[in-house]
Amino acid sequence: MPTYPPEPFRIKVTETIRLIPPEERKAKLKDAGYNVFTLKAEDIFIDLLTDSGTGAMSQDQWAAIMRGDESYAGARSFHRLKAAVEDIFGFKYFVPTHQGRAAENILSACMVKPGQYIPSNMHFDTTDANIRARGGRPTNLIIDEAFDPANPHPFKGNMDIGKLRDFIQKVGVEKIPFGMITVTNNAGGGQPVSMENIRAVAAVYREFKIPFFIDSARFAENAYFIKLREPGYGNRTVIEIAREMFGLADGMTMSAKKDAIVNIGGLLCLNDEVLFQQIKNELILREGFPTYGGLAGRDLDAMAVGLYGGLDEIYLAYRLAQTAYLVFRLNEVGIPTIQPAGGHAVYLDAAHVFPHIPQSEFPGQALAVELYLEGGIRGSEIGSVMFAHPDPDSGKMVYPKLELYRLAIPRRTYTQSHMDYVAECAGKIKARADKVKGYRFTYAPDLLRHFTARFEPL
Ligand code: F0G
Repeated sequence: MPTYPPEPFRIKVTETIRLIPPEERKAKLKDAGYNVFTLKAEDIFIDLLTDSGTGAMSQDQWAAIMRGDESYAGARSFHRLKAAVEDIFGFKYFVPTHQGRAAENILSACMVKPGQYIPSNMHFDTTDANIRARGGRPTNLIIDEAFDPANPHPFKGNMDIGKLRDFIQKVGVEKIPFGMITVTNNAGGGQPVSMENIRAVAAVYREFKIPFFIDSARFAENAYFIKLREPGYGNRTVIEIAREMFGLADGMTMSAKKDAIVNIGGLLCLNDEVLFQQIKNELILREGFPTYGGLAGRDLDAMAVGLYGGLDEIYLAYRLAQTAYLVFRLNEVGIPTIQPAGGHAVYLDAAHVFPHIPQSEFPGQALAVELYLEGGIRGSEIGSVMFAHPDPDSGKMVYPKLELYRLAIPRRTYTQSHMDYVAECAGKIKARADKVKGYRFTYAPDLLRHFTARFEPL
């Protein structure tokens, strides 16, 4: 069994959670159109829908909230955040945004023209949708190992450098306004990207003069994986590793709701002065003045402190061990998961749990329903509900390579016994898996449909 270091914090404030009876869970789910996003939080026992904005802030962050300067322009809070952002990321310019997708929207609005391509290892759904919303074509060029859930590759989030080169030559540099990489790769299992790979990706983008942006939602977890797994980094501090990563890029988008452990917030950083002017104008239109970007001053202060809290190595050791522990316990009850354990979440291989449910009938959605019915547990589908889409040229449905169900672990929020409970419930579903049926849509919007879709059981 992997070691599970005792939680490196003690609990000062509590929030009651309750498991409502099974018949009530059944009725609530039916009312919600079998979409767990539509359930009331009070009807959930263990909520692993996301690790985004759901972490427990530290006492230092709560103290910082009281120092929030709510001036419209030039607030002290902004300058405290600026100092932290410059210290950790090192880009010349930045704006705060209300969350990660706002940074993606502004970057896409300023840079993406219809018919252009944005390569990455794998875009997360909001990045994908923001690029598509501007007529662009997000392109995933991850290494093939990422599509084999059992493959234990230590850096399964890596981009395939050969594929990247071929892609650039095929579509032409003029059709690529910028390139990205996501650390860690959320859509592919929370898997890290190695420094060697980031360096190689940066070199290719530089060779073709393509600006390089890092989606850095989980940069601290990625940096800690580099420290643990990449030769030559064992004695470097996580903050040094982070600085080296960002030193290779021209900019970044960030959802601060992950590794900066805040409830709301995001960042858009870059080195290009002309683009920065455009971004500021777009920001003023959509988010707010450039020194607050859609946030309250207190949110900026919580972020400034949280960015360092998320880089604490004792916390990161516990964090990654907690995820590895849940992976171990699920595998023990016969549920396969993406290997090795990722940073922020466990990805159950729903296609393997329900081999009799085809992709068009959503095996990940079936698992979402079963875990709620079994134990009041909420996770999220990362499969065909989220990613299947008609090909823009042929109109034929394109299905993702993996049908996953994600249990994302909020930071510093649940304990080891909560993880044990989740594994026990999953084990009971495994025992009756052959009786579980698939789903079909009764409503689905065109973009980001997993949030609001409704289903019925087949
Ligand atoms: N990039 C990545 C890699 C993400 O995981 C997310 C959000 C975003 C960008 C967008 O950030 O939510 O602040 O607008 N991921 C959340 C999740 C929603 O549950 O994984 P946002």
